Amino acid sequence: IQISDNWPGYSLDLFTYPQHYYGDLEYVLIPHGIIVDRTERLAKDIMQDIGDNDIVVLCVLKGGYKFCADLVEHIKNLSRNSERFISMKVDFVRLKSYHNDQSMQDMQIIGGEDLSKLTGKVSFLYFLFNYPIFMFFKDIVGTGRTMKVLLNNIEKYKPKMIKVASLLVKRTSRPDGYRPDYYGFEIPDLFVVGYALDYNEHFRDLNHICVINDHGKAKYRV
Ligand code: IMP
Ligand code: MG
Repeated sequence: IQISDNWPGYSLDLFTYPQHYYGDLEYVLIPHGIIVDRTERLAKDIMQDIGDNDIVVLCVLKGGYKFCADLVEHIKNLSRNSERFISMKVDFVRLKSYHNDQSMQDMQIIGGEDLSKLTGKVSFLYFLFNYPIFMFFKDIVGTGRTMKVLLNNIEKYKPKMIKVASLLVKRTSRPDGYRPDYYGFEIPDLFVVGYALDYNEHFRDLNHICVINDHGKAKYRV
């Protein structure tokens, strides 16, 4: 789904949202219900593509936790209601790169050290034929730098296949930008919050994906 640059969004008055954010937001870019419906379709697409393979889900914290939880839930439901049973293991990795609304140069990876545990228990033959697919579930791809760091990091586990699902992709000026295998929405080059996406740790408790206003930026600046 492409959200164009001149999309005015929805007025905040049309929805409910936490009172502590009154005055801090510009408009609703994507209402919560549409996020959930779109995620259900991504689950179906993923199910169709991965066939009978098992998945090792790598949830990219913190911003990806809502998307990951909803996507895993949809995959579980689809798998339960079909003949195909997909086994999923879930691990969490964390990367921090943003200060206020600016992407920072140095990135730290936290967690996900015991990935070998998730793959090491199976025999070589099993691995050859029923190899698990590593899937990163993350909130948003902006410049794509974070994703590149994560992908480089997973190389050492010699995975046969890595797929990336991101709820959002930002339309940046760079045409060579990284594109995930699956994504829910392509959005304008705006700083967005809500549905676990934060501005200095605030707004994760907002259901809709919204655009923050100048007042909100100033209020929560660090
Ligand atoms: P990238 O390295 O520029 O692709 O940025 C990726 C990370 O920055 C994401 O995983 C988010 O945590 C964060 N990020 C990028 N854009 C936004 C935004 O608009 N709102 C909130 N977080 C963002
Ligand atoms: Mg963040």
